[in-house]
Amino acid sequence: MAPALAAVSVALVLGLLLGLVRSDGGQDKVPAILKCFDGQNCLAKRTTWEHFTEDLPSCLHPARVWWSARPAGIPVTLVTQLSVERLPQLRAQCALWNGPLAAALYLPLLAPDALELTAEAKQKLQAMVGSAEELFQESEKGAANGSAGGGCQLRLVLLYELFADPKALVLYPVNSLRNYARLMADTDLITNIDVDMIPSASISTALANPATLADYTASCRTGSVYVWPAFETHCGAASYADNVAVGGKAVIPAALKKCMRKMRPKAPYSHNATNYVQWLASDTAYRINYTSQFEPWFLSWRWGTLWYDYRFRGYGKNKIVHVAAMNATGTAWYVSPHGFIVHRKHTESKVRKVFLRAKFSRKDLQTLQDTVYGHVELLWAAVQKEMAAGTYMARVERGFQACMESLPWWQR
Ligand SMILES: *[C@@H]1O[C@H](CO)[C@@H](O)[C@H](O)[C@H]1NC(C)=O
Ligand SMILES: *[C@@H]1O[C@H](CO)[C@@H](O)[C@H](O)[C@H]1NC(C)=O
Ligand SMILES: *[C@@H]1O[C@H](CO)[C@@H](O)[C@H](O)[C@H]1NC(C)=O
Ligand SMILES: *[C@@H]1O[C@H](CO)[C@@H](O)[C@H](O)[C@H]1NC(C)=O
Repeated sequence: MAPALAAVSVALVLGLLLGLVRSDGGQDKVPAILKCFDGQNCLAKRTTWEHFTEDLPSCLHPARVWWSARPAGIPVTLVTQLSVERLPQLRAQCALWNGPLAAALYLPLLAPDALELTAEAKQKLQAMVGSAEELFQESEKGAANGSAGGGCQLRLVLLYELFADPKALVLYPVNSLRNYARLMADTDLITNIDVDMIPSASISTALANPATLADYTASCRTGSVYVWPAFETHCGAASYADNVAVGGKAVIPAALKKCMRKMRPKAPYSHNATNYVQWLASDTAYRINYTSQFEPWFLSWRWGTLWYDYRFRGYGKNKIVHVAAMNATGTAWYVSPHGFIVHRKHTESKVRKVFLRAKFSRKDLQTLQDTVYGHVELLWAAVQKEMAAGTYMARVERGFQACMESLPWWQR
């Protein structure tokens, strides 16, 4: 055996012993990702409430990375993020996606002591590793029910964050997680879809056609993105959404008379620009205009998609800011005729309830600046000013930037 090969094998065996390398697929990639976080001591940088109100980056650390060894499907990576209670949603997404699915799995841990993790925190971490491992192993068998065939090739990073302050536990770092998940994407095309949205099987089917894929790739490379129309259900179980997603566009008119409706009808600014009426009647892509606070999910070029601004945590405006910034850089917005996404029912998060309570409290923003709602609104106002002046740049953590710059598949 050549010496170089022997060295690789030793590293790999060590990795397997440490439980870091979970499959052959990520032989090079998993160590590269873990290396990004080397030497980081999150106990010394536990998150407090002021991290949020003062827009400071927080310390996220990987407990483990899993990388599918399944044969490659479509060369388009679905990128998502979630906390433990959304694992069933990830399973459902995976069943309907026939390409890589890169997910950042998040675990917030209370760490009152700066020197070591409590027994309870260690237990939680262990349990989460177990749940993720189980889901990963199941997905490796390809036990998917979607008609697209096969199911996803899962890439998971389990990131934990340590909190000194229990009040700060609600600060789900949604945008940091979206960025870290995207680091595991190595395909030209990506689509960032929140984990509670199920992609229609027809998306994978369409993208498996080489001519269709080539068209999308050429167009996305020159600054276009393709919106997936978004729907939600107001009755029926989670499986109702799955059935519609498998059924495809043809079942939508009937579903709209039953349990389905356009996404967020009470906030038309968020999805109306998609023009659902045109989409239902259309079998080709069509151009739309961005309108203020539009927040679609879309297919885009990995190298042309802006990063998410980590300062937006907890709830509110996180995606709106990203989409506004994409528009400001001259993105051409199209709607894809090939598929759609459906919201899958789940229980409402606590932070959303608290956010909405502050929003509708009729207090002024100065009074509310120490709430998630208040701080997010102040940030949004500041960002809009920067955008108008043409100076806005999404803030990413310095550590994140360094990590990206070290990953071979992120070098051009
Ligand atoms: C797949 O189908 C089996 C049996 O038909 C069912 O038990 C399982 O829950 C389904 N899985 C998903 C992800 O829908
Ligand atoms: C929604 O979009 C349609 C079609 O583009 C438009 O006619 C309508 O005025 C919009 N409604 C709202 C509330 O913006
Ligand atoms: C988008 O805006 C342009 C410029 O205002 C207008 O000419 C065009 O008709 C609009 N397109 C749609 C689909 O509304
Ligand atoms: C979106 O971007 C276009 C072109 O860059 C710009 O003309 C338009 O004003 C932007 N829309 C909004 C609502 O900011």
